[in-house]
Amino acid sequence: MKKLIITGASGFVGGVTASIAAQRFDVTGTYFSTPFKISGVKPVKLDITDKEDVVSLISSVRPDAVIHCAAQANLDICETNHKQAEKVNINAVRNIVSAAKKYGSKVIFTSSDMVYDGEKSFYKESDLARPVNFYGITKKQAEEILFNETDNFVAVRVALVYGLPVTSASSFTKKVINDLKAGNKVFLFTDQFRTPVYVVDLANALIELAENNFSGIINIGGIERINRYSMGRILAEVYHLNKDLIVPCLMKNVFQKAQRPVDTSLDISLAKKVFNTNFNPVSAGIKKDFLNYSRYSPQNLHDIET
Ligand SMILES: NC(=O)c1ccc[n+]([C@@H]2O[C@H](COP(=O)([O-])OP(=O)(O)OC[C@H]3O[C@@H](n4cnc5c(N)ncnc54)[C@H](OP(=O)(O)O)[C@@H]3O)[C@@H](O)[C@H]2O)c1
Repeated sequence: MKKLIITGASGFVGGVTASIAAQRFDVTGTYFSTPFKISGVKPVKLDITDKEDVVSLISSVRPDAVIHCAAQANLDICETNHKQAEKVNINAVRNIVSAAKKYGSKVIFTSSDMVYDGEKSFYKESDLARPVNFYGITKKQAEEILFNETDNFVAVRVALVYGLPVTSASSFTKKVINDLKAGNKVFLFTDQFRTPVYVVDLANALIELAENNFSGIINIGGIERINRYSMGRILAEVYHLNKDLIVPCLMKNVFQKAQRPVDTSLDISLAKKVFNTNFNPVSAGIKKDFLNYSRYSPQNLHDIET
């Protein structure tokens, strides 16, 4: 059986990826501050910024691949705390790459559509990476480390991810649903566009990368360019919640520490060739997620009740 390490398995993307991968891989999933339980996944505490910790785990597991989902994924925290963002999102990648290289493990790195400047639509992998916020800068620099230090890597430029976590992690979907359930207004942008990807589709694609020979940079997103306001309306409809609580707003009217690019929609023609996974349109993905409660672990069932 192939062996995988999934870093950040306590998080949103890493958790869903670990839960699906465990059906056919020997999976070690890491956490930092939040222990988790996922059926079939061996949880291990790991600080990715600690080189010795990383070497010790990779040398003992000797995985075929490391799917690296651990990160400081909050744009505003990265913007206000550059040192921490550099440590977690750049230096830690160096730790993982050097250990993985030594033990022949492929590194599958979760980069972001935030490496693009957002000044046009449907970015291709060959378009210039010119981030407008510090989070995007850290992702770009981490990609450069991979590019310069190993041949056995994939940098996945991931679009906004939607769906529900299998751990206690947060997600856009979970936040919107919980706010609507609490009767709170939810202000969502009409003037920022992305090609959101269903977390299960992303997880399946990341797992495929652990099994195929693809290497290099690849965009992964959904097939639909959409703003958060329209996504919020679909979520409210599918979850039978009050659509009128979704309020349209413009980016210029909301203060955010990190600048958001206007349009980081992704061209996924390469992904369509490389993967067997089909990427759902947003409404289909949200409906599938709504019907897919078996993915919930007892630990977070209390977070959302339907
Ligand atoms: N979610 C999206 O829409 C989106 C879009 C594009 C790209 N991405 C990228 O996809 C990846 C996963 O994102 P996500 O949404 O799943 O993030 P998340 O839910 O915030 O999870 C982050 C994970 O990183 C772990 N972590 C943080 N600092 C660590 C450290 N020093 N050592 C070890 N682990 C550490 C956390 O562990 P604990 O919780 O246990 O502390 C958690 O498991 C990230 O690389 C992110 O940049 C996400």
